[in-house]
Amino acid sequence: MLLEVKNIDKHYPYLSRRLFPGKKSFVALENINFTLESGKTLGVVGESGSGKSTLGGIVGDLRKPSQGEILYKGKNIENMTKEEYRLYRRNVQFVFQSPQESMNPGYSIKKILREPMDILLELGERQKEERIATTLEMVGLERAILLKKPREISGGQAQRVVIARSLMLRPEILICDEPTSALDVSIQAQILNLLKQVQRDLGMSYLFISHNIALINYMSDELMVLYKGRVVEQGSTQQVILSPKEEYTKSLLSFVQ
Ligand SMILES: Nc1ncnc2c1ncn2[C@@H]1O[C@H](COP(=O)(O)OP(=O)(O)OP(=O)(O)O)[C@@H](O)[C@H]1O
Ligand SMILES: [Mg+2]
Repeated sequence: MLLEVKNIDKHYPYLSRRLFPGKKSFVALENINFTLESGKTLGVVGESGSGKSTLGGIVGDLRKPSQGEILYKGKNIENMTKEEYRLYRRNVQFVFQSPQESMNPGYSIKKILREPMDILLELGERQKEERIATTLEMVGLERAILLKKPREISGGQAQRVVIARSLMLRPEILICDEPTSALDVSIQAQILNLLKQVQRDLGMSYLFISHNIALINYMSDELMVLYKGRVVEQGSTQQVILSPKEEYTKSLLSFVQ
């Protein structure tokens, strides 16, 4: 199995004793379990504050869980050798909500796309140039964009650049956290289709996070519904959407019908 997430809990400490007397921490996630197969998409849906980004961060090891484990190819990420951990980090990449904010404003697009490859010591200069060119083509951008700075491109172009950057190392898993929420509705559909296309081209798995169950339905093979840090429903997307068992899932669906 590519990725297994077992019994994850996450507690955040309360900073104010006065506001929350008697309680030490806030439970952001409780007992989360799932597996992610090669080439598949798991959707995570839930309202604001349900713990979606916390979960994405834990899967990519940007945050530590309070309890539980993440297994990448059967190996607990906490017990990896340096080399195993390096491979895991290289193979798990992120796409976040606000593309402009996730790029260094002083860098050219070329520099932004080159940067992840600085760790790929085995690639020569010419191969790096070639990889930039093929990746640009994959995400539907013209070469002329390489000379621009982030503020000189549109929101849709910026998200394509950020997707291109996440693909530079040819990852196995992409964690997409609300990747289209900051975009115009018309651009959203283009970016979702782009994500589907590159997933097929590169055979990647997605952890696809959204508050919008319609997007999750469009993108995911399986889904997980989170409510206040707990899983209320989990299973094949088709099954859950056609016959939701839980009232909360039904209410999410009622917003889009
Ligand atoms: N670093 C932190 N310290 C304390 N509490 C946090 C921290 N990060 C998140 N939380 C809390 O954990 C809960 C889950 O937050 P999270 O960002 O995972 O939700 P989300 O589902 O991604 O929400 P949104 O849809 O608004 O992005 C929230 O109540 C949030 O306030
Ligand atoms: Mg979030």
